[in-house]
Amino acid sequence: MQIDLTGITALVTGGSGGIGEEISRGLASSGARIALHYNSNRDGAERLIKEFDNGSIAFHSDLSLKGNAAGLFDDVVERMKRVDLLVNNAGIIENAPVSLPGMEWMKIWERTMEINLNSTGMLCHAAIKHFLKNSGGRIVNIASRAAFRGEKEDFLAYAASKGGMVSLSRSIARSFGRSNIKSFVIAPGYVWTPMTERVEDKQAIIDNELSLGEMTEPKDVAPLVTFIAAGLLDHGTGATIDINAGSYMR
Ligand SMILES: NC(=O)c1ccc[n+]([C@@H]2O[C@H](COP(=O)([O-])OP(=O)(O)OC[C@H]3O[C@@H](n4cnc5c(N)ncnc54)[C@H](OP(=O)(O)O)[C@@H]3O)[C@@H](O)[C@H]2O)c1
Repeated sequence: MQIDLTGITALVTGGSGGIGEEISRGLASSGARIALHYNSNRDGAERLIKEFDNGSIAFHSDLSLKGNAAGLFDDVVERMKRVDLLVNNAGIIENAPVSLPGMEWMKIWERTMEINLNSTGMLCHAAIKHFLKNSGGRIVNIASRAAFRGEKEDFLAYAASKGGMVSLSRSIARSFGRSNIKSFVIAPGYVWTPMTERVEDKQAIIDNELSLGEMTEPKDVAPLVTFIAAGLLDHGTGATIDINAGSYMR
């Protein structure tokens, strides 16, 4: 099957590394122009823009700061003139044991919510308005299996933020289908990226949790976004697609 995304502009948050890098590369290799968002990894973002060499542009925004997400969307529309696909991929996971003092714990909760959920909400809001003025569009929210099976006690905020992304995505699918706006969730399990580099004893995870017996890599997640961008999953709008190496079945 040949997928041609010529004429499509995709905003990928956190496109500078990990899963977002591979999503951006997959979309670009099928012809899409990428508005490649980054925060700290400017070199990574610029390297990819050079590699794609197709009119893609890198955009900086620290999504931990309230309001930046709306500014990011406006910047992209101003410079690239349109957005057809929004991929909310930027995210953090921070360790917050319940033993922390309340306000310290809350700081991590709020930072996690700001990047993972509030910015996603803001970008979806801006995208919906933009899509309503144009002929529609697609949204992909990168959540996590944590939204469904829960997380360990140190990561309550992370799981809650990902749960919010799932219900947001479903509500968009229910509300805007007739306006040609489609919304999907991808829920990865463990994926081998900078986010999971800190995890000790990966072999134990592979042995005990992953029925495929190998770690998922960004290249195992990215093709699905290209497939969605091409409109090949439109009748699955509202769906969550699990990519977790058989570690968790809903
Ligand atoms: N890896 C996994 O096992 C796994 C599992 C389930 C779900 N996920 C989800 O998949 C998504 C991508 O994760 P990943 O594994 O690829 O992680 P990653 O390599 O750590 O990438 C995270 C991305 O988020 C961006 N980011 C971090 N803080 C930011 C901030 N303050 N403002 C704006 N952007 C910020 C980073 O940009 P810079 O590098 O430019 O700062 C980076 O591009 C996340 O939403 C994550 O929750 C990952």
